[in-house]
Amino acid sequence: MQLSVVILAAGQGKRMNSDLPKVLQPLAGRPLLQHVIDTASSLGPEAIYVVYGFGGGQVQAAMSQAPVDWVPQPEQLGTGHALMQAMPLIPDGHTVLVLYGDVPLIQAATLRQLLATATAGSLALLTVEVADPTGYGRIMRDGAGAVRSIVEQRDATPLQRKIAEINTGVMAADAAPLRAWLLDVGRNNDQREYLLTDVVAIAVEAGAPVAAVSASGAAEVLGVNDKIQLAQVEANYRQQCARELMLAGATLADPARIDVRGELRVGRDVFIDVNAVFIGKVQLAAGVHVGPNCLIANSRIGAGTQVHANSVIDQAIVGENCRIGPFARLRPDAVLQADVHIGNFVEVKNAEIGAHSKANHLAYVGDATVGSGVNIGAGSITCNYDGANKWPTVIEDGASIGAGSMLVAPVRIGAGSTVGAGSTIAANTPDGKLSLERSKQLSVEGWQRPRKYADAEKQEIIDKALKK
Ligand code: UD1
Ligand code: CA
Repeated sequence: MQLSVVILAAGQGKRMNSDLPKVLQPLAGRPLLQHVIDTASSLGPEAIYVVYGFGGGQVQAAMSQAPVDWVPQPEQLGTGHALMQAMPLIPDGHTVLVLYGDVPLIQAATLRQLLATATAGSLALLTVEVADPTGYGRIMRDGAGAVRSIVEQRDATPLQRKIAEINTGVMAADAAPLRAWLLDVGRNNDQREYLLTDVVAIAVEAGAPVAAVSASGAAEVLGVNDKIQLAQVEANYRQQCARELMLAGATLADPARIDVRGELRVGRDVFIDVNAVFIGKVQLAAGVHVGPNCLIANSRIGAGTQVHANSVIDQAIVGENCRIGPFARLRPDAVLQADVHIGNFVEVKNAEIGAHSKANHLAYVGDATVGSGVNIGAGSITCNYDGANKWPTVIEDGASIGAGSMLVAPVRIGAGSTVGAGSTIAANTPDGKLSLERSKQLSVEGWQRPRKYADAEKQEIIDKALKK
C-alpha cells in the first residue's frame, strides 16, 4: 500500500487568542503540528501534505526542517475544502490518511489499525465514545449498527446531541473513490463551508462500506481549540510519558508531576522525584536517582548517579556513581568521569573532570581539564576569562586546591601539588609541592576599633572646626 498523509492545519484557531498560529502552540516543547508530522512519518508514507493557510509563512518558517509538502488553502472554506486542495497532488492507487494539525496525541498503532480497515473502495473512520461530546461531530448509525453519517454539533437535534460516539476527524480511504466523494460535497449548510464529514453520507449513498475504528480512548484524540484543551493535552501527554517510564522500570514519586519535553530514556530502577523537567534527549542509566525540582536537558547520566534537589544539568555527560547537587549547575560540555562529586552552588562548564574528583561547595570550573582524585576547595574558581578571550586551566591528578583560590588561566596545577587557601595562582605550579600566594599576616599594635560618635561629642568636633 502506498500512503499519502494529508494534515489539515489551515485554521486560524481564533479561540486560542494568540498571535501564534494554533498549530505552532507548543506541546511538551514542540509545536502541535510537529507531533502530528512525527507520528505520520513513523508510518512510512510516500508523502505528507500539510494544508496551511492562516499564518502560513510563520508555520513554514518554524517547520522548515519537516519532510513535508506544503499545500496552500488561501481561503478557509472548511475541512472538506482543505482536503480538496491536496487531492490533485495524490495519485490514484494511494491510500489517503487525513489527520488534523490540532489533534496531536494520535498514536501510530491506532492509525495502522485504521489503515488496515481502509480496504479498497471503503471509508475508514476513527471514532471514540466520550463522556462529554459537546462540540464534536456525532456518529449516526442505523438500526443494524452501520455508520450512516456524521452530524455536526450545530446541526444536531437535541436527541442526536446525546450520542456519545464522536468523529475524531481522522479518516482513511483510497484516493480514487475519495476524490469522487469529495466532488459531491457542497456548502449547503448555514456556515457555508465544505464539510469533510459530509463524505460519510456520500460514501454510504454510493454503496461503499464505511467502517468505524475505535481510538484507544478520548485522550488520544482530544483536539486543541483553546488554552484549556492545550493544558489538557499537555497533561495527557505527561501521563502517557509517565506510564511509559514506569513500564520501563522507573519509579516516579508522582506521575502527575514530571515533565518530559523530548525523549527520556531510563534504565532499570531509576527514581525520579517530583517536579523534574526533562528537555530534549536525556538518558538516565540504571539506578539513577533524580531529586526534586531538577532540570535535565540533552544529557546522559551514568548508572548509580545521584542528582540531588534543585540541580540544573544542560548538555552534560555524567559518569557512573557521581553525586551532583543539591543546587549544582552543569553547563554545556561538562564531562564527569565516575564517582565525581559536584556539590552545592558549584558551576561546571566545558570541563572534563576525572574520576573521584570533588568540588563540593561554591566553585566555578570552566574551560578546564581536571585530573582524577582532585579536590577543589570551597570558593575556588578558574578565572577563565580575561575580558576578551577564554583560557584553559589544567589541574593534574591528585592536586588539592585550597579554599578561596583564584586560578588565573591559562595555568597548570601540577600533579599531587597543593595550592594554599586564598592564593591567586597566575603561574604554573610544580608537581608535588605546596604553592601559595599570600601577603604576610600582621597584627597592628594600639589600633582602636572605630566607634560611633555620641551627639555631644560630634557637636564638639564641629564647633572646633568652625572656630579655625
Ligand atoms: C472537526 C469535525 C468534527 C470533529 C472534530 C474533531 C468537520 C466539519 N468537523 O470539527 O466532526 O468532531 O473536528 O476534532 O470536519 N482546517 C483547515 N481548513 C479549513 C478548516 C479547518 O485546514 O478551512 C483544519 C484546522 O486547522 C484543524 C482541522 O482542520 O486542524 C479541524 O478544523 P476545526 O475547525 O478545528 O474543526 P472542528 O470544529 O473541531
Ligand atoms: Ca478542532
